[in-house]
Amino acid sequence: MSDTPVTVLVDCDPGIDDALALFALVQWEKEGRVRFEAVSTVSGNLPLRYTATNAAFVLDKSGAGDIPVYLGADRPLSRTHLQFAEKIHGPDGLGGVYEEGHVDPDETVHGAIELARRVRKSAERSSVWILALGPLTNLAIAFALDPGLPDLLEGVLVMGGAFGAPGGNTTPWAEFNFAVDPEAVRRVCVSGARIFLIPLDVTHQVPFTERDLQRIETRTKSGRFALGLFQAGLHLQQRRGAHEMYLHDALAASALILPDLFQFHECEMEIGLCGDLAGASLVRSRRPGEEVRTNVSVAFGVEVSRARSFLLQTWGGGGASGF
Ligand code: BDR
Ligand code: CA
Repeated sequence: MSDTPVTVLVDCDPGIDDALALFALVQWEKEGRVRFEAVSTVSGNLPLRYTATNAAFVLDKSGAGDIPVYLGADRPLSRTHLQFAEKIHGPDGLGGVYEEGHVDPDETVHGAIELARRVRKSAERSSVWILALGPLTNLAIAFALDPGLPDLLEGVLVMGGAFGAPGGNTTPWAEFNFAVDPEAVRRVCVSGARIFLIPLDVTHQVPFTERDLQRIETRTKSGRFALGLFQAGLHLQQRRGAHEMYLHDALAASALILPDLFQFHECEMEIGLCGDLAGASLVRSRRPGEEVRTNVSVAFGVEVSRARSFLLQTWGGGGASGF
């Protein structure tokens, strides 16, 4: 993570929190803090086609120039059981704010192929990050297609995993992105890429509530769109009896711009593949002097109030340059 704008390729499955992450990235690109190059989508919160049309819609409403959206994997690497999360994100995946008639995704090339091609091309002139906000299927495919990619990447920032109590949000042990395609997580972990992980343990430290609605000062038309998404996400949670919501992917995205918000620890991570433990993540950190091959940097702590303020200001759409 560097001071000069890095190139970012986003792989995601919008999803309300993915959508607010995409919106934020568009704002940060406008402020010259990142070079937001392309989006690939994966089957996750919703089936693939919905995640792709949602991503294209969100970029359009966010005022992104011509950031292309590609359709990637429509199922996990080897599992036949598909899992979605409409209960959290609503039947359209965006809490009801989706509208027809916006820009279409690009269907001419598979998202994983395009991800691989763009990493190679962009790495010639800048540092490249992949921000992975959904199941890791597309990344695993891209790394299999081009095993040299992990070395070309500055890093892979992943929202996923759950380590401590209270456990997972999809099974008692597993977080959603890891539960959907555990084999893909395993492959990405052993790829040699520098992986930075924002797990549920951290995203659950930053709840958003009704009070935060007043703190989003919408200064642009696109800011009003972000506010609408935020409100829709909150209402869905309220209908389920909760007073707060977690915007996992948006919080994870903020680590690209303000990595010092998080406390990362180098760890060795293993993923469960069978039965109840499918998608369960286990980590241990290196003890002093120990020869353990660490493969991920896991965030265990976050500066809660600064992270929340940074995101709320970003969603207003008027810039968050004070941070
Ligand atoms: C993750 O699961 C999805 O529902 C969210 O978009 C996020 O990426 C949180 O477990
Ligand atoms: Ca997601």
